[in-house]
Amino acid sequence: MKAIEEIRNHPLYVEYYQKLEQEEKGRIFCCHQMGHLLDVARIAYIKNLEQKLDIRKEVIYAAALLHDIGKYRQYANGIPHEKASAEIAEVILSEIAEDAFSETEKASILRAILGHRRFREDMEALERLIYTSDKQSRNCFDCKAQKECDWDADKKNFHLCV
Ligand SMILES: [Fe+2]
Repeated sequence: MKAIEEIRNHPLYVEYYQKLEQEEKGRIFCCHQMGHLLDVARIAYIKNLEQKLDIRKEVIYAAALLHDIGKYRQYANGIPHEKASAEIAEVILSEIAEDAFSETEKASILRAILGHRRFREDMEALERLIYTSDKQSRNCFDCKAQKECDWDADKKNFHLCV
């Protein structure tokens, strides 16, 4: 998983992750930090195995780790975070080891990041995986801020997804 550590340690990733951490201090709603990013990666990888999608583990972890990295820019400037995350991810993916991901895999990771907030019937396999895992990672049934949260009721998890 060398490529994943390259992403996590990339200066741009570190910079935006630290800004995000700072911004989400004291936040009562869901955060977008490592716990969430790894929940998404692990749920997505389990689904990948269950559904026999055969997507490389590194590709799933890269998409999961990067999908919310632009969230700070949404807090700061109102830029939708799927767009900000895809922009940041594109730079990072172009600067890590050339053989880490094929061009097709990079395009698929960027599409998954861009598409992770809204369901579409024609989603690609990785896009759908990240969308679904992102939603299932949230434990709304156990959340103290559930009443104040502006997520649509049909997106909230009122029961444990197994
Ligand atoms: Fe997320």
